[in-house]
Amino acid sequence: MQIYVDSANLKEIQHAASMGFISGVTTNPSLLAKEDPSTNIKDLILKIHESVGGHTSVEVISTDTEGMLREADEILSWFPEATIKIPFIPAGLAAVRNLSDRGIPTNVTLLFTANQALIAANAGATYVSLFMGRLDDIGTDSLIALQDTCEIWDAQGLDSQIIAASIRTPIHLLECAKAGAHIATVPYKVLMQSMKHPLTDAGLEAFLKDAAKISM
Ligand code: E4P
Repeated sequence: MQIYVDSANLKEIQHAASMGFISGVTTNPSLLAKEDPSTNIKDLILKIHESVGGHTSVEVISTDTEGMLREADEILSWFPEATIKIPFIPAGLAAVRNLSDRGIPTNVTLLFTANQALIAANAGATYVSLFMGRLDDIGTDSLIALQDTCEIWDAQGLDSQIIAASIRTPIHLLECAKAGAHIATVPYKVLMQSMKHPLTDAGLEAFLKDAAKISM
């Protein structure tokens, strides 16, 4: 399972990318809205893309197919390898079909059930983003939705890549990998939490202390 960073914060993204295990980044309007309001979005997105060098999902904000396609063309004029992130609404699926027929990668977002993911895949989505945390927030077990999706993908041999999104805890990350998601897109804070172990820190401290007693 690949790991993407789910952020629009350049510092976080640069640090995550510098560690060498990040394959992409996903942004959304809410993540972008958390950044300095004076920031030029195009410049920020380009810097984010440069920092990661891999997959970069950029979300459209129109709710009609024509508007989404116009925005997609604008984003692609910034960098042609962009993945266009599109909400799971009827107008969005029509946009996904159009972009997919033109060979442009799409990431269908705001998916909460395996049926939605299956429909997005049939519209030609390159990636389907199934949200975990937001399902758990309303008392619905997100793992069941993810396991159903992975089971369908295995049974049907579908090409779209399953992204586990809306990850809130290290346990989510573990569950996504066990369920068979192709990718998990993870907030910076959860990445750092997932890396941390007290025995790793204590072990290093002891090694360094002992290393000071010997000559290499
Ligand atoms: C990523 O593609 C999603 O937009 C993101 O993971 C949503 O996360 P949230 O539910 O924490 O906002």
